[in-house]
Amino acid sequence: MSEYNNTYRHAIEQPDTFWAEQAKRIPWYTEPSIPLEFDEQNHARWFVDGVMNTCHAALDHHVDAGHGNQLAVIWDSPVTGGKRKITYREMRDEVARFAGVLAGMGVEKGDRVVIYMPMVPEALVAMYACARLGAVHSVVFGGFAPHELAVRIEDAEPKVVVAASCGIEVDRVIPYKPILDQALDASHHRPAACVILQREQASAILGEGEHDWQALMSEAAPVDCVPVKATDPLYILYTSGTTGKPKGVVRDNGGHAVALHYSMETVYGMQPGEVFFSASDVGWVVGHSYIVYAPLLMGCTTLVYEGKPVRTPDSGAFWRLIEEYQVKAFFTAPTAFRAIKKEDPDGDLLAKYDISCLRTLFLAGERLDPPTFHWLEDMLDVPVVDHWWQTETGWPIAANLQGLSPMPTKAGSATVPVPGFDVRVLNRKGGAAEPFEQGSVVIREPMPPGSLVGIWRDEQRFHAAYMAAFPGYYLTGDAGYFDEDGYLFVMGRTDDVINVAGHRLSTGEMEEVVGSHPAVAECAVIGIHDELKGQVPVGLVILKDGSTADELELEQALIGLVRERIGAIACFKQVLVVDRLPKTRSGKILRKLLRHIADGKEYGMPSTIDDPTSLQHVHETMLDRDVGQASRARLI
Ligand code: COA
Ligand code: AMP
Repeated sequence: MSEYNNTYRHAIEQPDTFWAEQAKRIPWYTEPSIPLEFDEQNHARWFVDGVMNTCHAALDHHVDAGHGNQLAVIWDSPVTGGKRKITYREMRDEVARFAGVLAGMGVEKGDRVVIYMPMVPEALVAMYACARLGAVHSVVFGGFAPHELAVRIEDAEPKVVVAASCGIEVDRVIPYKPILDQALDASHHRPAACVILQREQASAILGEGEHDWQALMSEAAPVDCVPVKATDPLYILYTSGTTGKPKGVVRDNGGHAVALHYSMETVYGMQPGEVFFSASDVGWVVGHSYIVYAPLLMGCTTLVYEGKPVRTPDSGAFWRLIEEYQVKAFFTAPTAFRAIKKEDPDGDLLAKYDISCLRTLFLAGERLDPPTFHWLEDMLDVPVVDHWWQTETGWPIAANLQGLSPMPTKAGSATVPVPGFDVRVLNRKGGAAEPFEQGSVVIREPMPPGSLVGIWRDEQRFHAAYMAAFPGYYLTGDAGYFDEDGYLFVMGRTDDVINVAGHRLSTGEMEEVVGSHPAVAECAVIGIHDELKGQVPVGLVILKDGSTADELELEQALIGLVRERIGAIACFKQVLVVDRLPKTRSGKILRKLLRHIADGKEYGMPSTIDDPTSLQHVHETMLDRDVGQASRARLI
């Protein structure tokens, strides 16, 4: 604990010297002499006079250091039967050629490129090729519907869109080209060109301005890395906020590389040459940080898995991968293990594999619920580490630090703040909460390197969403508490963000979609507890006066609408028609109360409620429709 305490104190009390030391561990073209500076809004800007290139630090640097023959990427795809191993040299060369392709299309430093691809090595190639040119990528998760892709294209205004012809789910092939076509039709912005990676499971018909990846690559000339300032943007990653418009989180180059390198060693306890497996998707922040960038910045091998925890072909898939590729650290979302536990509660499939190579299991994306934690602890001989972070921070805020001083774990806790993150819990009045007192989890500025540097072209939203609530602190949007030993427990969101199977979604956005239906006068979408997915959304709608819509037909229409506008991953599958919704006298829907009823909790009648009968009405409707645990809820 003392090593942790000393390091933590150093990072908080002298952030500039702490991070200047860490910055020496990545290669720079010009080493930074100013580790920390503050902008006009007093937000941290790291390594402002440093010059580097993220692709160089992750690929060329290792090749130049004599590790060109080491594996950089392993691809394993049970949904196609494909497997591929790519060395650092091969990866660098492929990336350099694809950078040549993009450069040939006019992509320059600062230009945006939208990438819409499944879990194939080419997704990494495209991302690194952007980094090589100093261009800014924006990867869109393959499960998003055309509308979501269109919103991102419109906001990022890419010069080029890179897509695959299809993605592959367990039971179906999903052609991406029609999704891209619809998105482009719906967007005011037109990219100069599209590059399509043709996959044999569903190849696409290419039109004007659309080019075949392979054909371009066969003629491409490699280009070198373009030096960029540490503070130049590396990527935009859109994430759900409280409104329908997703937030484009902007990450810079230098701070990001330094922070990820530090985390690989300190949080994950990894050494160069070891295999790191993060079972996420390149479309999420976990994928950006711990599939694409961190493992290669550290000189490790990253395992890219195009498959699911279950059904590809069975719930032994992860164990097979760990054994086959000698994985040292494995990272996934708790929901994946809940799915595995459901199918293989006694670990019969685990017993078929030798996973003695595994050193640590990491979980994030949602709170590691104690039952899943205990199941994993009983099943495995390695530390089971819950760690807490978010798209905005880009790397873990709290963890059990495997490379610094591993600590005893406590079920339900993400353990302690990671050096660099000055985590506080504030009560409603903005004062420090007592141990065990739940409050708003915030991070005192300066935020460490790697954290978001803004919202793409929306300074105002950046300030309003994160900095305005408690001046001097970054608002995480999570609620939680510290215990008497300084262990942090992160319990859930304080806003309209929900977490469905490890995917971050906005109920506000779903409400906008549901509310756009002509029969709907008013609606509320709440996230209710779900055994497998953690949370799932449920819609409550009030019909317009005189509406003759059939309730079941309307439910199907609204489910279809959310699927079509946001995507299947929203898991929006239940809609209740109600006469009225419980509201405060000022007209605010009492969403928390609705959640309590659906989750089977005891609830009281708030003194501010406008119409007390509305609560009973909604509870009865939930009972009729067998929503969640409503049968166990009690008014006290
Ligand atoms: N492209 C297109 N569709 C996708 C998709 C993608 N990349 N990912 C998911 N979907 C679809 C699914 O096919 C499903 O469609 P359906 O409603 O027609 O069946 C729907 O979106 C919901 O998907 P999901 O919530 O993933 O449910 P599932 O039953 O297919 O799988 C889990 C459940 C738990 C196995 C899966 O959610 C999982 O692996 N979660 C881990 C998530 C994760 O790693 N998150 C990253 C944070 S670390
Ligand atoms: P995302 O930005 O998609 O990574 O989602 C971030 C959000 O997921 C956080 O703000 C939390 O609400 C939740 N989350 C992620 N990891 C954890 C964790 N280990 N414990 C509790 N909540 C988590």
